[in-house]
Amino acid sequence: MWNNIALCSICKFSPSSTSSLFSRFQALHPVCKRKYKDFCKDEPAAQILQSWSCQVVKRTCNMLPSRLVSNKAKYRQYTKTYPVLDGCIPTIYQHVFEENLRNSEAVIRRYSELLEKVSKGGGEDAILRHTQRNKKLFVRERLKMLLDDESFLELSPLAGLNMPYGDVPAAGCLTGIGKICGIWCVFMANDATVKGGTIYPIGVKKQLRAQEVAMQNRLLSVYLVDSGGAFLPLQSELFPDKSDGGRIFYNEAIMSAMKIPQVAVVCGSCVAGGAYVPTMAEETVIIDKIGTLFLAGPPLVKAATGENVSPEDLGGAQLHSKVSGCSDHFASSEKQAYECVRNIISTLSYEPLPEEFIEYDGPLYSSDELLGLAPQGYSYTLPVKLILSRLMDGSRFQEFKADYGTTLVTGFGHVEGHLVGIVANNGELSHDASLKGCHFVQLCGQRSIPILFFQNTAPHAAEPTSISQAEAHTNRLKAQASMMAAVACAAVPKITIVIGGCYGSESYVMVRDSIKCGRSFSPNFLFLWPNARVALVDSRHFFAIPKAEDSDCKGDESELNHLKEKLEEESSAFYSSARLWDDGIILPQNTRRVVAQCLEITKQHKYQVISPCQYPIIRM
Ligand code: COA
Repeated sequence: MWNNIALCSICKFSPSSTSSLFSRFQALHPVCKRKYKDFCKDEPAAQILQSWSCQVVKRTCNMLPSRLVSNKAKYRQYTKTYPVLDGCIPTIYQHVFEENLRNSEAVIRRYSELLEKVSKGGGEDAILRHTQRNKKLFVRERLKMLLDDESFLELSPLAGLNMPYGDVPAAGCLTGIGKICGIWCVFMANDATVKGGTIYPIGVKKQLRAQEVAMQNRLLSVYLVDSGGAFLPLQSELFPDKSDGGRIFYNEAIMSAMKIPQVAVVCGSCVAGGAYVPTMAEETVIIDKIGTLFLAGPPLVKAATGENVSPEDLGGAQLHSKVSGCSDHFASSEKQAYECVRNIISTLSYEPLPEEFIEYDGPLYSSDELLGLAPQGYSYTLPVKLILSRLMDGSRFQEFKADYGTTLVTGFGHVEGHLVGIVANNGELSHDASLKGCHFVQLCGQRSIPILFFQNTAPHAAEPTSISQAEAHTNRLKAQASMMAAVACAAVPKITIVIGGCYGSESYVMVRDSIKCGRSFSPNFLFLWPNARVALVDSRHFFAIPKAEDSDCKGDESELNHLKEKLEEESSAFYSSARLWDDGIILPQNTRRVVAQCLEITKQHKYQVISPCQYPIIRM
């Protein structure tokens, strides 16, 4: 007889969830009366029934109250009573829309080219050397083998491009967040095709940021280590200061004490600094013939002692698994190593996020239109609610203080079913707008609702020319300070998307930059649209430079133009992202997906079992 378990295995539901459906299902189709064994022999029929039954069960489940869907699964629906935003673009804005669209297309082209470039790591020759000669998998292949699926959120892929010391594709290491055994994990994986995986200053910054993401969101961390240690020509910028290389090891201990598990795989040469990362991890896997680990490699041994020693004998998988104890698991291949990582993760006291069927509507307006709404400059900025209408579920938005301080838009909405508080620039951050922002951010904090900031700063206000204007400026400063305090102290996840300008200026620099939750205010995630511009001042509002009396600086036209060009280049989203002032550039049309993924990631910590012990795991 066709039974409940069979139905569950085909449809991937738990037996208990389908018991009540089953009787209905039996009545629905005569094929259910056939013997299960006979039925399984008939492959095409089984396939047809599988697809048909999945559809029926899915449709039936959608009509049922939550308790019948599954014991474990929760069925959520976002609130559909919030007012719908009018997202129609008035015809008077059509030319602005078209200008923005042209600009977006140009910057997206550049973005795609750069992404293509970094996806090749150190270049085709280096990949060939890595895969053919050294018999290792390319870093992106490694991640594919390790992760459950494609839902990998790569962080700062363009970091390291066009640095003063040259291009370092992806800063020499891939970082990001993906799922293993249903659990979101942060990855730090060296790319040995970029100068042997050696660590540049920007690489240190990238790894430290990944660890910060892990700490802030309490995410398990996986290190795939394949690194020649410090990039020696830049050694002075790599090791002595507080936030230099040593901080990575310090963080490993602190993270372990915070109960953030860390697993490492030695999947290449781990030399000097590269050797500490796996040795400080809580559990380490080493791959035979591929992984080696030592403070100084064979050439240094030869130079110091005159002795010839093979990398394998000096610090190979056999040695570290059987003699030194620097690794805990021996793997005979890369495949086996990643299976071992999955096994290690299954021993953690982590519950995967519960199944949740979230039913949500897409926005009523096409997300492709965001390209025409992404401003190429402040004078090309359209009302921000047009953007929100293309990002919120059902284009619904419960606005807070709609008629007060209208240059900041605040309110609640859903992104792929997740409730969020929105704080979005809609002009200059006036006194009233700042007070409203302060009030709203506190509301989100009180209600434990994550905040999503959309940043598009206005150019700085003209200097005051009268006492009353100066008084107004001071009052505004005070209101902005209140909002800054509220943003800094709101103990909820914060995600910032820079959709246009991100300018600071003179005395307002900290206020303007940080009040919308810039990097210094530690948002959980900060992304830029490719049209975004990040600078102290907007080069297009830069009309004169002061003459320096004692220098060669003449303040003439050509110098001004040169300065403008430099400012223009340095303000681009690509310049910012290369320096890790953000977590990466995202395309406007992908914003909903990325935000929803971040919101899901920030929820994971609720399902961890945290023991009260306060010390790290110490390798014995
Ligand atoms: N600093 C700067 N550049 C380094 C480097 C380092 N520590 N280690 C390697 N490189 C460069 C090489 O010069 C080479 O550059 P090129 O492609 O421009 O010729 C590139 O990285 C690849 O190195 P190569 O030796 O050809 O690759 P490999 O896969 O055979 O070996 C290493 C990679 C890292 C195992 C090996 O180069 C090595 O042992 N390097 C020394 C590591 C070291 O002593 N580090 C001490 C840091 S304190």
